[in-house]
Amino acid sequence: MMDWTDRHCRVFHRLLAPTALLYTEMVHANAVLEGDRERLLGFDALEHPVALQLGGSEPERLAAATRVGAAYGYDEVNLNVGCPSDRVQAGRFGACLMKEPLLVAECIAAMCEAAAIPVTVKCRLGVDELEDYAHFAGFIDTVAAAGCDTFIVHARKAWLEGLSPKENREIPPLRYEWAYRLKRERPQLTIWLNGGITTLEAIDAHLGQVDAVMLGRSAYHDPYFLHRAHAHLAGTPVRSRVELLRAFGPYVQAALDRGVALKHMTRHVLGLFAGQPGGRQFRQVLSEGAHRPGADWSLIERALAATAGAASAAA
Ligand SMILES: Cc1cc2nc3c(=O)[nH]c(=O)nc-3n(C[C@H](O)[C@H](O)[C@H](O)COP(=O)(O)O)c2cc1C
Repeated sequence: MMDWTDRHCRVFHRLLAPTALLYTEMVHANAVLEGDRERLLGFDALEHPVALQLGGSEPERLAAATRVGAAYGYDEVNLNVGCPSDRVQAGRFGACLMKEPLLVAECIAAMCEAAAIPVTVKCRLGVDELEDYAHFAGFIDTVAAAGCDTFIVHARKAWLEGLSPKENREIPPLRYEWAYRLKRERPQLTIWLNGGITTLEAIDAHLGQVDAVMLGRSAYHDPYFLHRAHAHLAGTPVRSRVELLRAFGPYVQAALDRGVALKHMTRHVLGLFAGQPGGRQFRQVLSEGAHRPGADWSLIERALAATAGAASAAA
């Protein structure tokens, strides 16, 4: 997720969910080819398995970027066919590609040819007036024929005009049934479901119908939910929030030693105590202190102490 799932976030999420597949922010193929690669693509070995999500619509450029991603060590490359922002539409990539299944198929064929790692697609159910199941299934079939066997379906359509990206994640209704039906009718494909999944019960219900689920906002805003989901599915004990946060310590210290400011890491942990007594104090101590020059791990310990203090006062 753009601006959220950077490398620091992904390491934290890896500690919370040791076996989940993690995704980078979307990176345009041209940026991969022409930009600062280490800044855009660098990641920590701890993050595996990790997928690089690419944006773009030019087959050769996407193929070249896939080659770079594979050489960097990514476990999968995913093509974004779901983002509806204006910038994306101007560049003719993201969700507007739902209207161009043949072009997406060309891109996928070139990307599959370029590297031996899996190439997957994240898509919507449709865009604008294209909102019938037949078009959606036809899009999937055309792209699958080009070599993609895994689709992450954000189970709502997008309006390319009139709705902001945020509204496009909330207003078009979720139609999980379309993803279920796709899986029933095309059992050979691997279908992931995404959109609005916020409870363990929902995860269980969806996993009865599709192969996997992807969590977006719920995992980011409430990282402990991501951990509980992992423990639930893996059948492993739930660890405490404090234990999980301290497990992030060695990574944070190593990054501080490299000159990374604390705020770049703490911003991803602010929701760890969401809904808990002391959660507000946790956020507050970190938000106020992390941007100060020289802020280090001791701030996190202070935030934990403030949280524990507020929680015991409330008990
Ligand atoms: C801040 C933000 C950034 C996002 N960036 C991306 C992105 O780079 N690539 C992508 O495929 N989806 C992106 N999304 C969409 C999410 O991956 C997901 O499809 C959407 O939020 C619905 O799932 P959820 O209800 O679990 O959050 C983003 C969402 C948010 C909130």
